[in-house]
Amino acid sequence: MSERLEDIAAAMMRDGQGILAADESSGTIKKRFDTIGLTSTEDARRDYRELLFRSTEAMENYISGVILYDETIRQKAADGTPLVDLLKAAGSVPGIKVDMGAKPMALSSEKVTEGLDGLRERLNEYYELGARFAKWRAVIEISDTTPTWNAIHANAHALARYAALCQEAGIVPIVEPEVIMDGPEANHTIDRCYDVTQWALNTLFDELYTANVSLEGTILKPNMVIAGQQCPTQASAEEVAEKTVKVLKACVPSAVAGIAFLSGGQSDEDATKHLSLMNAMGGLPWKLTFSYGRALQAAAIKAWGGKPENVAAAQRAFTHRAKMNSLAARGTWSADQEKSAA
Ligand code: 13P
Repeated sequence: MSERLEDIAAAMMRDGQGILAADESSGTIKKRFDTIGLTSTEDARRDYRELLFRSTEAMENYISGVILYDETIRQKAADGTPLVDLLKAAGSVPGIKVDMGAKPMALSSEKVTEGLDGLRERLNEYYELGARFAKWRAVIEISDTTPTWNAIHANAHALARYAALCQEAGIVPIVEPEVIMDGPEANHTIDRCYDVTQWALNTLFDELYTANVSLEGTILKPNMVIAGQQCPTQASAEEVAEKTVKVLKACVPSAVAGIAFLSGGQSDEDATKHLSLMNAMGGLPWKLTFSYGRALQAAAIKAWGGKPENVAAAQRAFTHRAKMNSLAARGTWSADQEKSAA
């Protein structure tokens, strides 16, 4: 008998733990490897993911789930153990990115995420391969003239169709309507981000309701409410935390199984600090944790540098960030702990 969606989601949201987004597409992981001058081969990608998944302290104590890419969910460690089995042995739930990327919308400068065709069959295969949750990322870009209703709506509708297909397959959907923070727009203030995030979330929950998606078996992966990186006025960490919680309280039903943020280009420490400040507020109707890609991995990739002799150093760097984010998920991180543990 398949597990209940609520139970899978509860395992992913267990106290003091969060999700590792290791689902970089081949194009994205190449960009990450370029920063250390490493050629992105299938073996290099496998070695790197194996290094993360064999970081026993981090995986057993701080990481409740891992999002994989199609190639990775089929890969075996150097000794022949399927990577999925490494995750299961560490008590981490395997997940899978199922969208096919944000593509240019017709007659528009905006993007819509594709991947619905054939998704039912792909989900059934991923279930057989061990996946118990999935991720679909919509990309919403802020400019003077965007987002438009057309893009907000098309992306929310696709997210809802994806989420319904996941639940039919016994897979918990992570729904990710990402309002991008690293675009070129100078007028991308924190208040503009608030308004666009509110619009995207309200539209998404409307579509999820229409599609009969069970919120109790759904995890939301939102952006934080934050000024764009090119905006000359940057908000304080306290303002980011306060406005993010405000928009979530205004838009996200308490029935959702949990909220796991993306890091979106924030520095490692900012992503940790913001999460901790939000959790320290207390009185929230859902758990808030991390589902970070870059903010969990940047230090590890740098320490590794693609060299076997640096694997232990890379694992230490990954474990440190995972531990700091675990503290943030409990609302107890402080800059002092960051220093003492470094
Ligand atoms: P970042 O934390 O690097 O934004 O990645 C999270 C993710 O999975 C985006 O889809």
